[in-house]
Amino acid sequence: MKYVIGVDLGTSATKTILVDQNGKIVAEASVKYPMYQPENGWAEQDPSDWSEAAISTIKSVVEKGQVNGKDVRGIGISGQMHGLVMLNEENQVIRRSIIWCDQRATKQVAEMLELPMEKWMKITANPPMLRIMPKERWIQITANPPLTGWTAAKILWIRENEPELFAKCRHIMLPKDYVRFILTGKYATDASDASGMQMLDVKNRCWSQEILDFLKVDRELLGDVYESPEVVGNLLPKIAEKCGLSTETVVVAGGSDNACAAIGTGIVREGQAFTTIGTSSIVYTHLKKYQEIPEGALHLCCCAVPGCWHTMGGPQSAGLSIEWMKNNFCQDLIQKAEEENVSFYDKINELTKDIRIGSDRLIYLPFLMGERTPHIDPKYRGAFIGLNIIHGQAHMLRAIMEGVVYSLADCNEILKKLGTEVVSMRACGGGSRSPVWRKIMADLYKCDVHTLKQEEGPAYGAAILAGVGAGIYSSIQEACDAFIEEDGITECDLKEAEEYEKFHKIYDRFYEDIKENLHALYEL
Ligand code: XUL
Repeated sequence: MKYVIGVDLGTSATKTILVDQNGKIVAEASVKYPMYQPENGWAEQDPSDWSEAAISTIKSVVEKGQVNGKDVRGIGISGQMHGLVMLNEENQVIRRSIIWCDQRATKQVAEMLELPMEKWMKITANPPMLRIMPKERWIQITANPPLTGWTAAKILWIRENEPELFAKCRHIMLPKDYVRFILTGKYATDASDASGMQMLDVKNRCWSQEILDFLKVDRELLGDVYESPEVVGNLLPKIAEKCGLSTETVVVAGGSDNACAAIGTGIVREGQAFTTIGTSSIVYTHLKKYQEIPEGALHLCCCAVPGCWHTMGGPQSAGLSIEWMKNNFCQDLIQKAEEENVSFYDKINELTKDIRIGSDRLIYLPFLMGERTPHIDPKYRGAFIGLNIIHGQAHMLRAIMEGVVYSLADCNEILKKLGTEVVSMRACGGGSRSPVWRKIMADLYKCDVHTLKQEEGPAYGAAILAGVGAGIYSSIQEACDAFIEEDGITECDLKEAEEYEKFHKIYDRFYEDIKENLHALYEL
C-alpha cells in the first residue's frame, strides 16, 4: 500500500493526516500554537512553531499509522495565506511572521496607490517615472486591490519601520513555503498562495516585474512559482530520519488553505462552491476562466487546479469571534463541557439551537480584526448591536454565528451579481460541524448545504496534491471523484429564510451607519 501525507498549517494549530492510496485517512495528529497580538489590530506567529508542529505531526502520523516510511510517497502542505516570513543570509528567521489578519499596514496600502517622492528617494537613488499605481492597474495585474493583510503591504511596513531587519532579509516566504523549505531546503511557492502576496500576475501565474519594480522588491528575494501538484523537492536526510521517512518522499508545492480546502471538498469544477468556517471564514467558487472582479469586491486567486482560478470572500473573524467569546466570557461553559465530557462546541449548539432567528433582536458585526470583503476596511471593528437585559451568553454566541453568515451571504450576493448562482454549497472547517451554523447558512444562502465524509478539507486537499505529484493519482479531479463523498444535507427552509432577510437587511445598513464613528475610534 502507498501513502501520502497532508499537512494543514492553520492559525490555531497544524493538523496532519496520513492517507492511503484509496483515500482513507489512516492517522491524524495536531499541535496547537499561540498567536501574539502586541497591539490592537496586530497579529504575529513564530515560524519555528509551525515547522516544529509540522515535523512532530508528520512523525506522529507515521508512528500511529504503523507504516513503513518508504511507502509514504509524498507530502503536501496547505497553509494560512499572506503571512510574511523573512530569512537572513544564513536562512534564519529574522523576526516573527506578521500573519494574514494583521491590519497594521494601512498607511502602506495608501502608498501602494501613490508613493510620495521623499519615500522613493529613501528607497532608491533613481526614483522611477511612475509613482502612481491606480487601483484599476493593481486589479488588472494582481487581480485584487492593495490590501493591508496581504504580503506586499507587510513588506513595505517592515521596510519603513524596521529598516535594519529588512536590510538583513535575503528570502521572503509565505508560512507553508517556510515549512516546505525546512523539509526540503528549496525556496519555492505555488500560484494559489502566491496570489495572496499581491506581487503575482494572477492571470499569467508568474511574478509581475511591473509590480516588483513599482514596489522596489528584488525578484531574488522570492522563490520560484510552481503549480500546486508539482514536485518541489525531496525530504532532506535529517528530516527524513527525524520523521521516520525516506529521502525518496517528495514534497509538492501545495497550496493556500482555501485552495486546498476546495480540493479536499471536491470543489474542482466550474460553478461549484463551498464555505469554510475556521478562524476566518470564506465562501469560495471555482472558475475555469480568469474573470476580473469589479472593484475587487471579492478576492480572485489562482486555484490549486493548474490553469484555473477561484473567488473567495468572507469575514476574517469567524471562529476567531467564537474563540474570543470563549476565552473571555465562557469559563462556566468550558467547565460544564469538561464535567460532561463533551466538547465546548457541542455545548454551544445545545445552548443556541432554540434561540429565535435573529438572536432575539441582537446583531453581531464580525469585524474584530477589520475587514476586506465585501468592505475593504481595516479600521472597522466588531460590535453587538441591540443588547437588551434578556440577552445572555447564548444569545451572544448565536448572534456571532449569524453575523458571520450575514457577511458570507453578502459575498455570495456579489457572486450572484457577477453571474454565478450557487445552487448547492458544501461545508468544511470546524464551524461547519455545527448543525446550528449550517442551518443559518442554508437559510441565508437560500440553498442546501452539504457535509462530507472527509472532514479535514485543507489537509485532505494537500494529501491529494501530494498523491498527484507522486504519481499515485492521475489528476486532482480523478482523485476527488473517487474519494469525496457527501454524507449529510441541511435544507433551506424558505419561511425561515424570509425571516432572516429582515435581520440581514438591518445588518447590512450598520456598516455605513457606524463606519465614521468606528474610524474616529481607531484614530484616537
Ligand atoms: C484568506 C485568508 C484566510 C487565511 C487563514 O485570504 O486570509 O483564509 O488563509 O485561514
